[in-house]
Amino acid sequence: MIVAIDGPAGVGKSSIAKMVGQKLGLYYLNSGNFYRGVTYRILHQGIDPTDKDLCIKAARDADFDVRDGHFYLDGEDVEDELHTPAIDLWASKISVIPEVRAIVNENIHALTKKLDIIAEGRDMTTVVFPDAEHKFFFDAEPEVRAKRRFDQNPDAMPYDKVLAEINERDHIDRNKPVGGLKIASDAIYIDTSYLTITEVCDKVVKAIKGQIA
Ligand code: DC
Repeated sequence: MIVAIDGPAGVGKSSIAKMVGQKLGLYYLNSGNFYRGVTYRILHQGIDPTDKDLCIKAARDADFDVRDGHFYLDGEDVEDELHTPAIDLWASKISVIPEVRAIVNENIHALTKKLDIIAEGRDMTTVVFPDAEHKFFFDAEPEVRAKRRFDQNPDAMPYDKVLAEINERDHIDRNKPVGGLKIASDAIYIDTSYLTITEVCDKVVKAIKGQIA
């Protein structure tokens, strides 16, 4: 069984997908980590992130794995290293490159073959798992997503800057030539703005079990 979830940055996809995965015994796959992993590799090896060919090579040479819910790059658990401001910024730009996307997608398919999974990202319902049995699109106003991010760590950045970054990432995500963020025609749309994580999780689980969401 494949459950695919897409939505913009900061909408709660990771927390909810993880929770649903635990409830239903599905292997949880965070596709954003693959783009973050490629970016981590590029920045750590001192590769120029604006050089498209070098970015493609870095993606091709990378070894990706997901074990016990942790993301491994070149044999090292880098799960906790992937959320820095530099990686946020560059992952958003590097994930635009179609060849990088193709390499990431090949790795995702290879790792999830024969597994029952819940995968989340920007193009899980449209490009990577177009035949998924269950598709969801999570959405929330940019201001709501920015407020959630800001409240997680109010000292890190002023609210206006958090909102500006969310708007910039939305713009990049929606305008990618390949794998842009779109609502699949057969996805269930959930506005998470005024719902708790548990409420969204319950809706998703009910929908998967064939009840009315
Ligand atoms: O979901 P996230 O913020 O951790 O994703 C990191 C970056 O990767 C983000 O800029 C969007 C991009 N991404 C993508 O292009 N396609 C995906 N399926 C998942 C993430």
